[in-house]
Amino acid sequence: MTVPSKFSSLTIALHWLVAFSLITLVGVGLYMTNTETFSLYPIHKSVGDLSSVMATA
Ligand code: HEM
Repeated sequence: MTVPSKFSSLTIALHWLVAFSLITLVGVGLYMTNTETFSLYPIHKSVGDLSSVMATA
Protein backbone atom coordinates (compact mmCIF):
# COMPACT_ATOMS: atom_id res chain seq x y z
CA MET A 1 0.00 0.00 0.00
CA THR A 2 1.34 3.44 -0.91
CA VAL A 3 0.73 6.21 1.67
CA PRO A 4 0.39 9.69 0.10
CA SER A 5 3.11 12.13 1.25
CA LYS A 6 2.15 15.12 3.41
CA PHE A 7 5.06 17.10 1.98
CA SER A 8 5.58 18.58 -1.48
CA SER A 9 8.28 17.10 -3.70
CA LEU A 10 10.22 20.40 -3.41
CA THR A 11 10.23 20.12 0.41
CA ILE A 12 11.37 16.50 0.23
CA ALA A 13 14.13 17.38 -2.27
CA LEU A 14 15.37 20.26 -0.06
CA HIS A 15 15.27 17.98 3.00
CA TRP A 16 17.59 15.45 1.38
CA LEU A 17 19.82 18.18 -0.09
CA VAL A 18 20.35 19.64 3.42
CA ALA A 19 20.87 16.14 4.90
CA PHE A 20 23.48 15.27 2.25
CA SER A 21 25.23 18.64 2.68
CA LEU A 22 25.49 18.32 6.48
CA ILE A 23 26.85 14.76 6.29
CA THR A 24 29.39 15.88 3.67
CA LEU A 25 30.36 18.93 5.79
CA VAL A 26 31.19 16.68 8.75
CA GLY A 27 33.38 14.49 6.50
CA VAL A 28 35.08 17.45 4.83
CA GLY A 29 35.48 19.26 8.18
CA LEU A 30 37.24 16.26 9.75
CA TYR A 31 39.35 15.64 6.63
CA MET A 32 40.51 19.24 6.14
CA THR A 33 41.50 19.64 9.80
CA ASN A 34 43.24 16.25 10.09
CA THR A 35 45.20 16.64 6.84
CA GLU A 36 45.61 20.45 7.03
CA THR A 37 44.08 20.88 3.55
CA PHE A 38 43.58 24.63 3.88
CA SER A 39 42.23 25.05 0.33
CA LEU A 40 39.02 23.30 1.48
CA TYR A 41 38.33 25.86 4.25
CA PRO A 42 36.60 28.51 2.08
CA ILE A 43 34.47 25.80 0.39
CA HIS A 44 33.55 24.37 3.81
CA LYS A 45 32.58 27.84 5.03
CA SER A 46 30.44 28.69 1.99
CA VAL A 47 28.63 25.34 1.95
CA GLY A 48 28.24 25.54 5.75
CA ASP A 49 26.66 29.01 5.54
CA LEU A 50 24.36 27.95 2.69
CA SER A 51 23.30 24.74 4.45
CA SER A 52 22.56 26.62 7.69
CA VAL A 53 20.29 29.05 5.83
CA MET A 54 18.55 26.23 3.91
CA ALA A 55 18.07 24.17 7.09
CA THR A 56 16.28 27.02 8.87
CA ALA A 57 14.31 28.39 5.87
C1 HEM B 1 27.05 20.00 10.16
C2 HEM B 1 28.35 20.14 10.11
C3 HEM B 1 29.08 21.44 9.91
C4 HEM B 1 28.61 22.68 9.52
C5 HEM B 1 27.18 23.11 9.16
C6 HEM B 1 29.76 23.58 9.50
C7 HEM B 1 29.71 24.91 9.16
C8 HEM B 1 30.77 25.77 9.20
C9 HEM B 1 30.72 27.20 8.92
C10 HEM B 1 29.46 27.98 8.55
C11 HEM B 1 31.96 27.70 9.08
C12 HEM B 1 32.39 29.16 8.91
C13 HEM B 1 32.47 29.79 10.28
C14 HEM B 1 33.14 31.14 10.24
O1 HEM B 1 33.08 31.84 9.22
O2 HEM B 1 33.74 31.52 11.27
C15 HEM B 1 32.82 26.61 9.46
C16 HEM B 1 34.17 26.75 9.71
C17 HEM B 1 34.99 25.72 10.11
N1 HEM B 1 34.63 24.42 10.35
FE1 HEM B 1 32.77 23.64 10.06
N2 HEM B 1 30.87 22.87 9.88
C18 HEM B 1 30.52 21.57 10.14
C19 HEM B 1 31.32 20.55 10.58
C20 HEM B 1 32.68 20.66 10.86
C21 HEM B 1 33.52 19.60 11.36
C22 HEM B 1 33.05 18.16 11.67
C23 HEM B 1 34.78 20.13 11.49
C24 HEM B 1 36.04 19.49 11.96
C25 HEM B 1 36.12 18.58 12.87
C26 HEM B 1 34.72 21.51 11.09
C27 HEM B 1 35.78 22.38 11.09
C28 HEM B 1 35.73 23.71 10.77
C29 HEM B 1 36.89 24.63 10.79
C30 HEM B 1 38.31 24.27 11.20
C31 HEM B 1 36.41 25.87 10.37
C32 HEM B 1 37.22 27.16 10.20
C33 HEM B 1 37.12 27.96 11.48
C34 HEM B 1 37.79 29.30 11.33
O3 HEM B 1 38.08 29.74 10.23
O4 HEM B 1 38.04 29.91 12.38
N3 HEM B 1 33.43 21.80 10.71
N4 HEM B 1 32.08 25.46 9.54
